[in-house]
Amino acid sequence: MSDVKIPLAGVIGCPISHSRSPILHGYWLKKYGIAGHYVPMHVEAVDFEVAVRNMHKLGFVGCNVTIPHKIRAIEIADVVTDRASMIGAANTLTFRDGKIYADNTDGYGFTASIWQGAPDWQPDAGPALVLGAGGAARAVITALLDSGVPEILLANRTRPNAEALKNDFGAKIKVIEWVQVAANLGSASTVVNTTSLGMTGGPEFKVNLDGLKPKTVVADIVYTPLRTTLLDEAEKASCHTVDGLGMLLHQAVPGFERWFGHRPDVDDETRRVILA
Ligand code: ATR
Repeated sequence: MSDVKIPLAGVIGCPISHSRSPILHGYWLKKYGIAGHYVPMHVEAVDFEVAVRNMHKLGFVGCNVTIPHKIRAIEIADVVTDRASMIGAANTLTFRDGKIYADNTDGYGFTASIWQGAPDWQPDAGPALVLGAGGAARAVITALLDSGVPEILLANRTRPNAEALKNDFGAKIKVIEWVQVAANLGSASTVVNTTSLGMTGGPEFKVNLDGLKPKTVVADIVYTPLRTTLLDEAEKASCHTVDGLGMLLHQAVPGFERWFGHRPDVDDETRRVILA
């Protein structure tokens, strides 16, 4: 009797109930008629390694990894992509031939989202101004440098955290004071907020945006709300704006393709499904 294996994937985190990934992958599985499942898994940090090392025995072909496991995922993987090592964290694992492969697709998701939202983007037109120096900033900076951005002006509330990124990423990073953001907006061709400022329920985004040039590509990684203060102001200044939902959706594409064998589209319907 034939016993076809149905591929399993999912997302491991703690907490995990808020994750939208199961809705997204579930939607794609149904849309493309693929026999497979994608499930949320609440796994405590102490159990992470044992859980991941045994998942292939249960039929898992891979999984996404989220807080607090993204750094540990790199440490336990057998093979780590360059971009995941540069970022220092993994969000996408694939299990093959008894090995764990770790990748980070956040930077890819960011770039794909920019190209979709601002198709005329010219990464090499001038410096990018990046706000924030956390995990998301590392992914965004990797993506910007890979895309050919010549220089990155990096501003963070806590300057030493920005200096640490400069040490890792090198001479193309120029650290500027947080209070100097407004004064540097006019020299940037691309502006990206990677902080949580402006997120519903959190502190407001209060940077003075009067200096924004028209046609600057302005991206926010915050997606609740979808139209942040930064994006609203940027639109009024005739900039091209890119919201944070695109990055969330596009970062899921490589994993889905690897696990389930079909490259999914990120279209308006996909956005509607996740927002619903
Ligand atoms: P993530 O992995 O999503 O990037 P993170 O590592 O916690 O999350 O980083 C959050 C970023 O938002 C940091 O750059 C943080 O600045 P600090 O390094 O000074 O903590 C920034 N951030 C968070 N709250 C902020 C606030 N109220 N004002 C300015 N920056 C803030």
